[in-house]
Amino acid sequence: MTSNEANDLHVPATSALWDGTYASKDASQRSWSEDEPEASLYFIDKSHQVPSAPIIDVGGGASRLVDHLLARGYSDVTVLDISAAAIDEARRRVTDESVHWIVADVTLWTPTRSYALWHDRATFHFLTSAAGQTAYVTAATSAIDAGGHLVLATFAPSGPATCSGLAVQRWSGAELAEIFGDGFSLVETTTRDHATPWGSVQPFTWVLLERRAD
Ligand SMILES: C[S@@+](CC[C@H](N)C(=O)[O-])C[C@H]1O[C@@H](n2cnc3c(N)ncnc32)[C@H](O)[C@@H]1O
Repeated sequence: MTSNEANDLHVPATSALWDGTYASKDASQRSWSEDEPEASLYFIDKSHQVPSAPIIDVGGGASRLVDHLLARGYSDVTVLDISAAAIDEARRRVTDESVHWIVADVTLWTPTRSYALWHDRATFHFLTSAAGQTAYVTAATSAIDAGGHLVLATFAPSGPATCSGLAVQRWSGAELAEIFGDGFSLVETTTRDHATPWGSVQPFTWVLLERRAD
């Protein structure tokens, strides 16, 4: 199977690939690891959430964002990831029983509730097929409350073309705003460099989008 086939919609091998990555590499060996999710928290602060706001981290993996959200007093946090191994790792660290954990492929997932904030750092860019991207946009559009927010980070146009052996699609802020369409308005976009644990620099595009009323 090629990398692109593995990225296609309805291909279960993707979860096995991510499980294998989390099982075989510790946090210091994963390019996306960061101790302080500084850019995520900057944009979450910009979206002005109340402490009871429902927040979902899509493709959250074993990220420490959930720890930071709990420390800031957010009481309704959900983490979704395709990898059960990633979710298990996060659950061993985060013992707060208020957190909701979901193992699912976001492109096949039907949200059963709505969220004031949808956060995604470095997951959407793995969707390289139009079908996968459309399914993601449909899920986000249905799950985010009117007036709610989407914080999204992907590799920037000058960023890497692959991650974890998978092809990615690189995006500008204008392109992200366009694919999320009329249901969202662009509040802010920026490019920020992420330093991997071994010191490589990866430029990311960040956007803060606001869900328009239907
Ligand atoms: C590069 S990692 C980023 C993890 C986390 N967001 C962070 O910033 O540390 C990408 C994550 O997306 C997850 N993922 C990939 N494809 C997915 C999909 N279709 N649905 C849900 N999660 C997915 C992977 O398991 C992995 O945890």
